[in-house]
Amino acid sequence: MNQEQQQKELLQKLGLAAGAVPAELLRQALTHKSVTADRQTQHQPHNERLEFLGDAYLKASISEWLYTHLPDASEGDMTKIRAYVISDSAFSRVARRLELERYIIMSSSERSSQAEIRESIVANVFESLWGAIFLATDYPTTARLILEQVKPELELALKGEAEEVQNYKATLQEYAQGKYKLLPEYEMTHTDGPDHDRAFFVTVTLNGELLGEGEGRSKKRAEQDAARLALKILGSFDDGETKVPLPAAVLQFFEQSATARSVAANPSTVLPQQLYLAPSVLSADFSCLQTGLQQIEDGHAAWVHLDVMDGHFVPNLTFGPPLIKALRPHSKKVFDAHLMMSNPQDFLAEFAKAGCDRVTVHYEACDHLDRVVAQIKELGMKAGVSLNPATPVAMLDAILHKLDLVLLMSVNPGFGGQSFIPRALERIKSLVKLRASQELEQQVLIEVDGGIDQDTLPQVIQAGADVVVIGSAVFNTPDPVQTMLSFNQQLAALELQYRC
Ligand code: DX5
Ligand code: ZN
Repeated sequence: MNQEQQQKELLQKLGLAAGAVPAELLRQALTHKSVTADRQTQHQPHNERLEFLGDAYLKASISEWLYTHLPDASEGDMTKIRAYVISDSAFSRVARRLELERYIIMSSSERSSQAEIRESIVANVFESLWGAIFLATDYPTTARLILEQVKPELELALKGEAEEVQNYKATLQEYAQGKYKLLPEYEMTHTDGPDHDRAFFVTVTLNGELLGEGEGRSKKRAEQDAARLALKILGSFDDGETKVPLPAAVLQFFEQSATARSVAANPSTVLPQQLYLAPSVLSADFSCLQTGLQQIEDGHAAWVHLDVMDGHFVPNLTFGPPLIKALRPHSKKVFDAHLMMSNPQDFLAEFAKAGCDRVTVHYEACDHLDRVVAQIKELGMKAGVSLNPATPVAMLDAILHKLDLVLLMSVNPGFGGQSFIPRALERIKSLVKLRASQELEQQVLIEVDGGIDQDTLPQVIQAGADVVVIGSAVFNTPDPVQTMLSFNQQLAALELQYRC
C-alpha cells in the first residue's frame, strides 16, 4: 500500500475524509523523533512539536467532557479518570484498535530492535496526530473525534473497571494506617527482560511482614499490583466499586457509541471497534475479484482474507503472490494472507512484495516455526500461526509471545462452505486462557476461520475470537455488501454484550 493510500485509510478510521489533513502535516505527525538517528532521514520533520499541541487538546477535550457530563463528580474523581484515560497504556490500546503502529515512521534501528513498537512511541504518535488534526480542522471537530476514539477507555474508567483508576496503593495506605497505625513499605526486588520490555517486581511489607509481590511494566504499576494483592490478603479487597455515580446521559452516550458507531461516509453503518470482520475472497467470483474487493470496501469489513492453497498441504489450489500483487492497488484494507501451503518460508518475501500486511502460516507446515515467524516480521508483516482442527492449542505455548495472531481452523482447511466443527469453541477458550496466562491479550489476536455464519458467530465471539473469517456466508448471498453490513451490526452488538 503506498503512503497516500495508507494516509487515506488512517483518516477514514479516524472519521475524516481523505485529504482532510494535508499529506505533509499528517506525515510529520506520524514521524517519531527517532528518525533523526538514521543518517538519510536525519533532517526529516518529526512530530515532537505536534505532540506538544496534541497533548493539550486531548487533555482539554476529555476534561471538558468530564466537566459537562459529570456535574456531581469532585475534582479529585475527575482528575483520577482523566489520568487513566490520558495514559500511555490507555492511548496505546486506542492506537491498537486503529492499528496505528502500521503507519508510524521511525528509525530503522528502533523498529528492528523491537518485535512490538514500544507503548510510549505509539502513545506519542497518537498524541501528535491530534495536534495535526486540530491544525487542519478546528477545536470542536478535534474534540468530537478524540471522544469517539477514547470512548471505550473512558467507559472503562467511569465504570470503575480500569485498574489504574482503582488506586490500590492509596487504599492500602488508608487501610493500614487506619487499622494498624502503620505505613506499608515498598521495595523493588528485581527486574526482568530487555530494556524496551522490562518487567519490574516489587514487594510490599507491613511492619516487616510480607504482604504481596507485584509485577508490572513500570515500578509504579508493580507497586499498584503489590498493593492490590496485599488488600486481597488483608481481606479488604474492594472489587470494581463504581466511584462516580453515572448520570443517565452518560450511560446513554456509551450505549449509543457501542451499538451505533457511525462512519462519516455512511451514517447508517454500524461498526464494531474491537472485533474484525475478515471476508474471505475464496467464495467471491474469481473472474472478477476487483468486484469482491469493492464489495468488501462498501460492506465496511476490516480485513481482506486471502486463502492461498498449494494443492499439496491442502487438496485444493487457489492463487499466490502475483494475484495478490494485482489486487493490491484496488483495496486499502488490511491484506490478511492465510498460507495453506508447504514450505511457506520459500515465498515469504514474495508475499511481502505483493503487499500483504499480515501473513499466517500453518503450524503443521513448518519444521522451523520460530525461524519462519522471525522471517515474516523481518519482512515488516504481522505474523500469524494457524492450527488445524486436530492440532492441540498447547503446541503454541513456546512461541505465542512472538506472534501477532493465532488463526484457529474451525473446518479442515482446503475448501469454503464446510460446516463449523463445534469442538473449535473449546479450542478458542483454551487459547484465550493460554494467552491470558502469558499476559498477551494486548498483542495476540485470535482469528477463527471456517463455517462461520449468523448462527455460529455469537458462539465464536462469546468463546473469545477477535477476528472472524467469513467466506460463503458473505459471498454466496444475493447482496454481499448488505450481508457484510449486517455482520458488522451483529458484531457490534456482540461486542457490547461480551467485550464491554
Ligand atoms: C478454508 C479457508 C477459509 C474459507 C472459509 O480452508 O481457510 O478461509 O474461505 O470459508 P467459509 O466461511 O465458507 O467456511
Ligand atoms: Zn482462511
